[in-house]
Amino acid sequence: MTLIRIPKSWQIFKQEITSETAYFNRRRFIKTLVGASIGASLLPLAGCQKSASETALDSSLDLPKIKSFTPNPNFSSLDRPITDRTLAGRYNNFYEFGGGKNIWLKAQKLPAENWKVEVTGLVKNPRTYDIDDLKREFALEERIYRFRCVEAWSMVVPWIGFPMKALIEKVEPTSSAKYVRFTSFYDPEITTGPGIVFGKLPWPYQEGLRIEEMANELAFFALGNYGRDLPKQQGAPLRMVLPWKYGFKGAKSIVKIEFLASQPATYWNTINSQEYGFEANVNPDKPHPRWSQAKEKFIGEGPDFKWEIKETMPYNGYGEYVASLYV
Ligand code: MTE
Repeated sequence: MTLIRIPKSWQIFKQEITSETAYFNRRRFIKTLVGASIGASLLPLAGCQKSASETALDSSLDLPKIKSFTPNPNFSSLDRPITDRTLAGRYNNFYEFGGGKNIWLKAQKLPAENWKVEVTGLVKNPRTYDIDDLKREFALEERIYRFRCVEAWSMVVPWIGFPMKALIEKVEPTSSAKYVRFTSFYDPEITTGPGIVFGKLPWPYQEGLRIEEMANELAFFALGNYGRDLPKQQGAPLRMVLPWKYGFKGAKSIVKIEFLASQPATYWNTINSQEYGFEANVNPDKPHPRWSQAKEKFIGEGPDFKWEIKETMPYNGYGEYVASLYV
């Protein structure tokens, strides 16, 4: 059977940006990637009616509203608009479910119910939390943050969650704890992205921070965005948000948080330490070895992809909060 591919707006976007070395060269590590083609997305639009795939995308985003949270006035407005919710929910990096951006449908396999997060290692009060515990025990706030991917695209997302430092206060790390490792969900029966099938990548996805970075005011755990629970494609039910660092530092779908004495190995850094440093702070003056980081493509208001070229800011514009960590 021959399938005729009718590209949607985001697929056209992807083709246009493939001229940029950033997009495909990164994927050289995963040779099998040809962009996740999703059967449902081949359905043509019928007049003004939504296609089956658009309706499915909407339901992946129309999750329960988070009942109680307070907008944090320090992070309530920015120099650019909030990215359209649908764009943010269909243009993702989540390699466990595929190497393209269009993984939202495959990510619906993530078993985000009855989730447990183990907090362990060099702490006085180790504990396993479920998501209701987190919602109940931490004061939830909304923060509108810039988000900058190492591939030189950017968004603005309104996250709901709590500062990482609040978790540090609860679990009380011992004086030997210097680093923290964050581990994402991994089950080769479910997370069947191409890298997993071919077994060449260092799963599970893990990220790490110095404990001072985790204690910084900006470091955030998100349980939701756009007023609702977090969509699976964006790392449900709990992900890291570190707005001064490249997006790959923010691991999705966290199952384990470990306080450690020494620096942990991390996913992209293990794949290529020259290209994906452990620190990975947004820096326009430090090019990626294969592309410039001086500018970025900002994906703004929707509903269709259009992007604006912007100057990249040191620490993604958050230097006043974090620059002192790096002197
Ligand atoms: N976390 C996991 N577990 N797996 C991933 O592939 N990709 C990272 C980060 N967290 C990734 C991940 C990268 S490269 C980016 S840019 C962001 O997630 C993308 O987040 P978004 O899809 O919500 O925009």
